[in-house]
Amino acid sequence: MSPSAIVYASATGFTRRYADLLAERTGLPCFALGAVPGPARGAAVLYLGWLCAGGIKGLRKARARYKVQAVCAVGMSPAGTAYTDQVRAQNHLENLPFFYLRGGYAPERLTGLYRPMMSLMSRMVSKASVEDEGARAMQEAFAKGGDWVSAEQLSPVLDALTE
Ligand SMILES: Cc1cc2nc3c(=O)[nH]c(=O)nc-3n(C[C@H](O)[C@H](O)[C@H](O)COP(=O)(O)O)c2cc1C
Repeated sequence: MSPSAIVYASATGFTRRYADLLAERTGLPCFALGAVPGPARGAAVLYLGWLCAGGIKGLRKARARYKVQAVCAVGMSPAGTAYTDQVRAQNHLENLPFFYLRGGYAPERLTGLYRPMMSLMSRMVSKASVEDEGARAMQEAFAKGGDWVSAEQLSPVLDALTE
């Protein structure tokens, strides 16, 4: 895989941090989706988008505009094969290299409709049984916010870029 640029969509900054880290490590130029100037139409890109109700934000637009060679989804859920497989299927990414990166949760930086959507989700999660370890971790994340961005999570992405 040899993308000519990194393109990302980020609402509260976590995905942008991963995109910036990747740009730093690879030397590739990095653009917010829709930025002008951006990569040329049809350019081969690595795309990163934040997860919103299981969908990767901006992915459809990026696929219409560029040749997306690999995709990273950034969410607040703990990483795990089952979750990664679910997101991959929901976003029709069976034929592309796909990576899940745990980002963060910063409710104070949410704007518009995302704020009420997340407080609804937060209330739903707070009703889940605390016996379930995953639910407990999410309750804590919703209550306190969190930042799980780490350069280590990019290792598989960097490996795929050098293949
Ligand atoms: C409305 C909304 C829906 C979300 N849905 C999901 C989700 O389905 N799965 C997940 O792991 N995280 C979900 N999140 C959390 C974000 O994906 C997470 O905070 C991410 O790090 C945001 O990246 P950003 O800072 O680049 O915008 C959601 C956040 C919001 C505001």
